[in-house]
Amino acid sequence: MTSVFRDDILRGHVALITGGGTGICRGIARAYLAHGARVCVVSRRQEVIEAAAKDLSEETGGEAIGVAADVRQPEAIAAAVAATLERFGRLDTLVNGAAGNFLAPAAGLSSNGFRTVVDIDLCGTFNASKAAFEALQAAGQGLILNISATLHYHGTPLQIHASAAKAGVDAVTRNLAVEWGPLGIRVNAIAPGPIGDTEGMKRLAPGELGQRLAAQIPLRRYGTIAEIADAAVFLRSRAASYVTGAILVVDGGQAVTTVGFV
Ligand code: COA
Repeated sequence: MTSVFRDDILRGHVALITGGGTGICRGIARAYLAHGARVCVVSRRQEVIEAAAKDLSEETGGEAIGVAADVRQPEAIAAAVAATLERFGRLDTLVNGAAGNFLAPAAGLSSNGFRTVVDIDLCGTFNASKAAFEALQAAGQGLILNISATLHYHGTPLQIHASAAKAGVDAVTRNLAVEWGPLGIRVNAIAPGPIGDTEGMKRLAPGELGQRLAAQIPLRRYGTIAEIADAAVFLRSRAASYVTGAILVVDGGQAVTTVGFV
């Protein structure tokens, strides 16, 4: 489907997108490239992320590079920022999308399992934000866009690790908005609801559970990756120039219903 935004709305912009090799963040990378931005996508495995960058460039005609880095390692994500600056000369936007998740009952989840997800989602967001800080400030119109969730608005069964991590991501979003706003960096988050065309949803709400969930959403369907990408283009665009510290919920109204997850 054609974009509702002008094709060149992000021309001149450079974005680094963690988790950009797959799922929602690959969709954001595709949308940014299609609107004129140059993009560095980051994920853990070199061959996977290089292939993703190549495909994204071919799909959009834009310029993408892929850099392998684990957001749990501050030096690795700093090297990814350095590679972006070396290739593109600036960095305007950091999208913190790298995340790990699985279904696990709290009583059966190991301490290491809990910590692993908090490490990737929350500490990874902090590490990448720190690594990108100077470049974002130098850009003069920096944006950090965190990919949060709605899990932690209520207790969500089997998701204590991811809920705790995303609650922390929301806190980081608000704190950095306050500390870095005066330095010219906006910090926002998108909280996607259930997005149908992702690996995560297929794993987390398979088959009949998924159908029951969709029937409870006010808009009566899952969202799409493209709908999250549109929100990401809006928050990067000049239309959102006075928006910071915001957590934009894109979930078909699921979070405001009184009906539970299962
Ligand atoms: N259920 C319970 N515990 C799990 C688990 C599951 N499905 N998957 C991982 N863990 C636990 C491990 O048992 C381990 O704890 P332990 O040492 O006490 O046994 C801990 O988490 C770390 O697991 P490990 O596989 O060594 O970590 P990793 O850093 O290689 O990968 C994830 C962690 C979360 C990224 C991995 O589970 C994964 O690849 N998930 C699928 C991809 C994904 O999450 N995509 C995002 C979708 S939103």
